[in-house]
Amino acid sequence: MKRNRPVYDLVIRNGTVVTADEAAQPPFKAHIGIRGEKIAAVSEQALEGKTVIDAEGKYVFPGVIDAHVHMALPVSGTISSDDFYTGTVAAAFGGVTTIIDYTTPDVNQNLLESVRERLKVARDAVIDYSFHAVILGWPEGRAEEIAEAIRQGISSFKLFMAYGRSRRKSDDGVLYQAFQAIGKEGGIAEVHAENDDIIEFYQQEFRREGKLAPKYHALARPDFSEGEAVARALYLAKEADAPLYLVHLSSAKAIDALVKSRRDGVEVLGETCPQYLVLTDEVYQTEDAHYFVISPPLRKAADRKRLWAGLAAGEFSVIATDHCPFMRSQKDPKRDNFLELPNGMPGVETLLPLIYSEGVVKKRITLQQMVQYLATNPAKIFGLFPEKGTIEVGSDADLVILDPRRRKRLCRKMLHMNVDFSPYEGMVINGYPEITIARGRIIVDEAGFHGQRGAGRFLKRHKPLREQST
Ligand code: URP
Ligand code: ZN
Ligand code: ZN
Repeated sequence: MKRNRPVYDLVIRNGTVVTADEAAQPPFKAHIGIRGEKIAAVSEQALEGKTVIDAEGKYVFPGVIDAHVHMALPVSGTISSDDFYTGTVAAAFGGVTTIIDYTTPDVNQNLLESVRERLKVARDAVIDYSFHAVILGWPEGRAEEIAEAIRQGISSFKLFMAYGRSRRKSDDGVLYQAFQAIGKEGGIAEVHAENDDIIEFYQQEFRREGKLAPKYHALARPDFSEGEAVARALYLAKEADAPLYLVHLSSAKAIDALVKSRRDGVEVLGETCPQYLVLTDEVYQTEDAHYFVISPPLRKAADRKRLWAGLAAGEFSVIATDHCPFMRSQKDPKRDNFLELPNGMPGVETLLPLIYSEGVVKKRITLQQMVQYLATNPAKIFGLFPEKGTIEVGSDADLVILDPRRRKRLCRKMLHMNVDFSPYEGMVINGYPEITIARGRIIVDEAGFHGQRGAGRFLKRHKPLREQST
């Protein structure tokens, strides 16, 4: 008797599949069958589909997870210029199928209340999303809020060692208590590590001397202020017996401190960002310096080299963008006073193109490492694995097809982020994402965007997969 072969809703034929779950597994040629929102087959045998994509000569990766974005972030008297609709449409064009943003609480505000508020802001997202819960202050009952947040699917918590001026800084006592409480509940604590006292000292000195041009932003935040804060945070995390995730590491001193602490037995996960891997502080000598004002600031070429070496050696765990764009009209009026400049730059759409072109094509990291840094590790660390971050039967059909022969010159006009400045203007990218599939639907292809406002789902996350995520 002849059995009918199953017909899938969508089939991707002949692609070179790259998945980092088995780090040793080399890219392999396969056909992927999708039924509804899930991957239903990964096969060497040809599959039949109602819709078929031919991916011959192209790579198929798990959809990228950008674990660090700030859509519609209220800060410095303004709001970052991408909202959850524009920012996630742009993300989709760059092969990103999940974002993790942050809550924006008031000091001492209840964590669950701040999640509920952020949910309202995020409802137009076109791809799946979650939030890290920002902790500002340590009022009574905070530990119970953390436990409840984890039960409700928010398993990561962010604290700031900097930004005392805007009342976001946590002192060491709060950091230590927070690490203890989060670690005890099996969540993951995250820290923006810069020594605020050092920064404050420099900022006051520069202000007294009338040195308020954007380049002083970078000089007020020296690499040792980051290295010291990383080392201190990790010391406290060890004493609190908790794992710690360090966001946006920018300098050699920071990654060196991380590696040293790891050798001392601290469970630490490090994130870096494309801007620290591609740009340097030379931009602060230009007319456009204020568009590059971010925290931590851009560093020296030697730092950039050290960060790539850290990625090659597996010292980092995640590459994410810290996407936080502002229009020229938001930055320009403050260009003469770095203390008032909104900090941040765009990135979500260029994450995969930059890391593929600058990292894989230039042989600084392997394809599998790239997939690990952009998808598999963030999925494991932030409790989204195995639904996200891998290409396996049963996983969400979140996929990106990248054409390695596609060459593009980046310019703000071809990008979709709601911002009129690109830090990478004119840069040539070798290899570009072509098709993005989110939970089984083609949301971006050659013809453009096909997703829907509000189609993104709020993801209730598990606790981190600790032993596998470094
Ligand atoms: O300059 C930056 N990175 N702005 C976004 C907020 C943060 O510190 O991550
Ligand atoms: Zn930060
Ligand atoms: Zn950030």
